Order: sequence, then structure tokens, then C-alpha cells
Amino acid sequence: WPASAERVDGALHVGGADLREIAQQHGTPFLLVDETEVRDRARRIRTAFDAAFAPERGAAGVDVYYAGKALLTADIARWMRAEGLRIDVCTGGELALALRAGVEPEAIGFHGNNKSELEIEAGVAAGIGTFIIDSAIEAERISAAAARAGRAQRVRLRISVGVHASTHEFLATSHEDQKFGIPLAEAPAVVARIRELPGLELVGLHTHIGSQIFDADGFAESARRMLALHAELGGDDPLPELNLGGGFGIAYTAADSPEPIEAIAEGLADAVRAAAAELGVAVPRIAIEPGRWIVGPAGVTVYEVGTIKPVRLAEGTRTYVSVDGGMADNARPALYDAQYSARIASRASDAEPMLARVAGRHCESGDIVVDAEWLPSDVAPGDLLAVATTGAYCHSLASNYNAAPRPPVLAVRDGAVRTLVRRETIDDLLARDAGLDAGLVAEN
Ligand code: LLP
Repeated sequence: WPASAERVDGALHVGGADLREIAQQHGTPFLLVDETEVRDRARRIRTAFDAAFAPERGAAGVDVYYAGKALLTADIARWMRAEGLRIDVCTGGELALALRAGVEPEAIGFHGNNKSELEIEAGVAAGIGTFIIDSAIEAERISAAAARAGRAQRVRLRISVGVHASTHEFLATSHEDQKFGIPLAEAPAVVARIRELPGLELVGLHTHIGSQIFDADGFAESARRMLALHAELGGDDPLPELNLGGGFGIAYTAADSPEPIEAIAEGLADAVRAAAAELGVAVPRIAIEPGRWIVGPAGVTVYEVGTIKPVRLAEGTRTYVSVDGGMADNARPALYDAQYSARIASRASDAEPMLARVAGRHCESGDIVVDAEWLPSDVAPGDLLAVATTGAYCHSLASNYNAAPRPPVLAVRDGAVRTLVRRETIDDLLARDAGLDAGLVAEN
């Protein structure tokens, strides 16, 4: 829950605003992000890494990129810049959004394992800070685009370090059998080729071991392996930077206990300093790319309860509480078995708690919002249900399954609520269907 979440006369308030009033004004479901919390978290992670990698502590500073894939809107991009973070994008769409929001091109890093020619050209033309090269073929493409534009393009090379991050299989990105990056053993040849190609300036290596990682050990191990490669490839001409990716885990339920980010930063800095000393190289400037850690805990999704149904099972009765959203606005339970916490937001209740399963409104039995949560047994249609920690990878992963319009993204600050992304309408959806007369639809 955002730090600002509190009950006032029974109703849940976030950022000083009553969730009931927001529901009345904007309808349900909606995603609300607490701007103060997002910005506090951006500042906190930057401060933690700045301190851990301070030059007076034998390091060379750090750049923090916000991974826009977690949740990107024009305002969020601006908040990040205001808090001193850069922006990491991974498609032409995210790039266009960041640029149109006014993010300086030099502050943008562009990821992706299959950037199109058009995306590469758009990035080169805009003058973005770095491309993260993901394959040998892409090095040739970016070089050609840079040459055509008559520019020198800064690039990093993504390495797959072979660290098995302890997270869900789909969220781990650096074991051997997956699509991202260049395996460690092949890196020297690709680096040599990049250095030969016109128009490319290699500024450093990159790795990202996965997402929603709790223990510092995986990060430290990947840092050690990356520094060894960094030292091997540097020689007389050391690369100035090393990007260690994102992936810092957050608590979704009381069962999750990630280490504080300050401890992760210190552990990583210790590993980097020790490895550099052992290898006899200077500590490069470090970059990190957190997404989830910054926005996840600052978001709350509010739904309205529609139906309640007891289902009798051999082991007892399970109560299904269905809400007016689901897997289209939060695919994470269906995709990753993700767990969430929920509360009734519209009122307090003294009723006995009961173990409920919160389900969505979509036509799939896997459409679960919260697999198991204690809700008051008097939960009733019309109650508002708030689900915590939905700031990251919910709106950005949202779909229109079952022709469901996507909910709005609202922001609250000092009690004032404003719209970051408006609610999608059925007309928005139907406008793309070439078999319909758009004019008639709009009138209906
Ligand atoms: N850098 C790179 C290269 C990445 O691929 C990612 C995430 C990040 C940074 C940011 O990771 P974070 O700090 O947010 O963990 N849809 C999944 C997460 C996919 C993450 C993809 N890459 C989920 O909902 O859990």
C-alpha cells in the first residue's frame, strides 16, 4: 500500500483523496498512482545508489534509468526527469511517448531484442543517448543507420551472464536458454566487430538478470561476471560505463520481504569494488534500470464488487467475489501466478473475515485478481475493492480482451486528483473496426 493509505471514517484514502469520491467522479475500475510516492521512491533509489557508488568511496558514480515498460505516461516521464532519472524505452512507441513528453533525447536508452529498421532510424534521428545492442545483426543495422544519418551513435552491448535469478521463469532473462543478449563467451567477437563498424561508439556493457528479484546475491554474482568481461575487453582502452539493469523486487503481500534498496545498493557496490580491485581495473560508471521498484507500490487499482458466489468444494466453501475488471487490466495473476493484497475501500467492517477469491469479469476461469484474501464476510455488491501494488506492469500490460476498454490512469497529489491517461471508450475500440461506420458508432 502507498505510505499515504489511511482509513478516514471507514473509507480508504490515498494521497489525501477519498477513493469513494474518485470512483464517483471517474467510475471504476481505475488505477490511481500516488505522485508523491512515485517521486519519493525515484529519489530514494537514486540517493541509495549515488551514496553506494560515490567517487569518494572508490566508485565513479551512477546513472539511474527508469524502465518505462513498467508504466509510462507523459507526466511520469517528466516526474522521472525532475527527480534526476533518465528514461529507458524498449519500442518505438515508448520512444515517441518519451520524446513527445519533452524528455531530452540524450537522456534516453533504447532496448529491445528486435528493434525494427524504422525504430532504429527514429532513435538515431532523434539523437538518443544510447542504443542497447542485443545481437550481432543489430550492431550492423545501427551502424548503417548512423552512417546514413552522418552521426556517431553511442551504444552498449547486452550480455547474457548466465546467472539464474531466483524469480518466475518468464521474468528471468539471463540464463542460457533465452532470447536476450549475447552469451558471455561470444561477447569478445561482437565487441571487436562493434569497434570496427563505422558510426558506433561503444560506451559499455549491459546486463539484466531478471525482474522481481529479492536477494542481493544474484545481482552481486552478475556484477562480478560483468566486471571480469569489462576488464578482459578493456585493455588500454577501458569502457567508461557498466549497466547492471533493473529487477529490484517489491512486496506484493505480507509474505514478501525484499531487502531494503539501500542494502541492495551497498551489496552491489561492495561486489563491484571488490571485483574491480581483484581484476586491477578502475570501477566504471554504473547504470541501473529500475521500473517496478519505483512505481509498483505507488499504484492502487479500485474496482466495484458486482457478484458474490459461494462455491462448495470438498475442502470447504470458497467465496468468489467478482469485480468489474480483471485480467485485461491486470494480467499478472494469469501470466505469473502473481499474488496481490486487497481491501474493501468504501467502508470499514467488523464482520468476521472470510477467505475469498477475487475474480474478474472476463470469460476465463484463470481470470483471477487476487487468488486468496481475507475480506469481511459482509462484502456486498457495490462495495469498492482496492488492490495494492498495481503501479507496475498492469496498465502497461493491459489488453482489450473481451472488448474491455482500458481503465484510466489517475494521479493524486496532496488530495488533488488528475487524469494521466483517460479511460478508453467503447467508441475508441470500435473505431478500429473497418467493417463499422465510425460515424454511426459515435452517435450510439
Ligand atoms: N531493464 C531491462 C533490460 C528489462 O528487461 C527490464 C524488465 C527492466 C530493466 C526493468 O525491470 P524491473 O526493475 O521493472 O523489474 N511483465 C513482468 C515484468 C517483465 C520485466 C521485463 N523487463 C511482470 O509483470 O512481472
